[in-house]
Amino acid sequence: MLLKVNMRINGSTYDHEVEPRLLLVHYLRDVVGLTGTHIGCETGICGACTVLLNGEAVKSCCLLAVQVNGAEIQTVEGLAAEGELDPLQIGFWEKHGLQCGFCTPGMIMASHQLLRRNPNPSKDEIRHALAGNLCRCTGYQHIVESVQFAAVKMKPDTTA
Ligand code: FES
Ligand code: FES
Repeated sequence: MLLKVNMRINGSTYDHEVEPRLLLVHYLRDVVGLTGTHIGCETGICGACTVLLNGEAVKSCCLLAVQVNGAEIQTVEGLAAEGELDPLQIGFWEKHGLQCGFCTPGMIMASHQLLRRNPNPSKDEIRHALAGNLCRCTGYQHIVESVQFAAVKMKPDTTA
């Protein structure tokens, strides 16, 4: 049996018929072709699959595609849609917030939610917000600095 799903992903509308058991992360990667969202554990632990669902960070391996029918999804591919890197992407570049890069899309999407809720987070608040995203390479310090860099970059310019 196939079920219809319709969702907006990074500003475009997608309609498909999928198996009810299809995970959102597999839908994004295998059906839509957005492979920037990674699969690490598939058990909700590593955070590599984090995307924004109606603006909230979720682990896309823990949801079925049919559960988010009608939703607005943002993946890491949607961040530089106009061809300019997002402040968090710049931050991870400038502050060396990655090594292998496997965790990076999830880290960036989870950080997006954090900076929307708290534009000026402390190091502890960043670490707390990213506690559900695991990195086996960096030791996290550079990730925290990357998010702080982005927070400064996203601050409105009040000098004008
Ligand atoms: S792949 Fe989803 S949390 Fe690890
Ligand atoms: S950079 Fe390799 S897992 Fe984070």
